[in-house]
Amino acid sequence: MASIITITFSPCIDKSTSIPELIPEKKIRCAVPKLEPGGGGINVARAIQKLGGSAVAIFPSGGYTGKFFNHLMEKDNVPSVIIETGNETRENIIVLDDSTNNQYRFGMPGTRLTETEWQQCLQAVEAIKNAEFIIASGSLPPGVPLNIYAQLAKIAKNNHAKFIVDTSGEALQHAADEGVFMLKPNLGELSSLAGKTELQPDDIKDIARGMIAAGKCEVMAISMGAAGAMLVTRDMHAIIKPPPAERKSTVGAGDSMVGGIVFYLSQGKSLLEAVQYGVACGTAATMNTGTELCKKEDADRLYALIREGN
Ligand SMILES: Nc1ncnc2c1ncn2[C@@H]1O[C@H](COP(=O)(O)OP(=O)(O)OP(=O)(O)O)[C@@H](O)[C@H]1O
Ligand SMILES: [Mg+2]
Repeated sequence: MASIITITFSPCIDKSTSIPELIPEKKIRCAVPKLEPGGGGINVARAIQKLGGSAVAIFPSGGYTGKFFNHLMEKDNVPSVIIETGNETRENIIVLDDSTNNQYRFGMPGTRLTETEWQQCLQAVEAIKNAEFIIASGSLPPGVPLNIYAQLAKIAKNNHAKFIVDTSGEALQHAADEGVFMLKPNLGELSSLAGKTELQPDDIKDIARGMIAAGKCEVMAISMGAAGAMLVTRDMHAIIKPPPAERKSTVGAGDSMVGGIVFYLSQGKSLLEAVQYGVACGTAATMNTGTELCKKEDADRLYALIREGN
């Protein structure tokens, strides 16, 4: 089995379309929809695949929509461990209004999992003994306990795997309290993790250092949207700015970034190179429309520019 695994408790089918104009009451003619499998860890595994690596995606899947979801994963050649569930996999809708270029993202509630189902997800992660990296990413659906990422952190420690978490709110808090290898919060997630309403740019490094000293993580990669990212470890910190790029849609930027970081780490690159590649991948994702993830050629070109100092 591959040495990277991702776990996603709330996968979804992302249905993207565009419309001439959003008008209430009238029938609106939509463009032919594009269907993609989505959800945090699903996207991270797909991004790694697009970059030339391989990650095993572990996820629950149920009903007819689940069967279709599995088919989409097969089409993308992502190795999958599927936990069959009783409830239907959810579908999200993303609509681009051509008249304004505004994008509307309608997210359906996560599919409820039973205790047996989420336990099976944990067991599937635990069973892959030689995983080098375990990535848990995304929101938690109803039925799943908020400390599930803390439970996974323990499994990762027992299996000697590096655990990377990209989530928000209480699920993130629990994971940090258990201690993980890497956290990838955005600025909003970091400020709520630190219990602050607002973060000053100068505070970010000290907050991250404090969390590292408290054992919440070994490495923090704080993503800052158009401003790039900050890498903080016990001994160093670096700000990585993205080169200029034409932005189309920021959907999938965070997941592409995590995919890029882990792909590079799995190749034995340094933390700085990995987060630089992550920024390149995140920015490469913003160059594509809708939910499309980064393209390897864009990511590699942006990475070369970052290495040159833009
Ligand atoms: N407007 C932008 N211009 C250039 N690069 C961007 C932009 N937005 C995001 N990125 C790139 O993507 C990376 C991750 O983006 P961001 O900080 O928005 O993550 P996020 O909030 O976790 O995103 P997501 O909504 O996908 O979860 C950034 O570090 C940066 O490299
Ligand atoms: Mg994110």
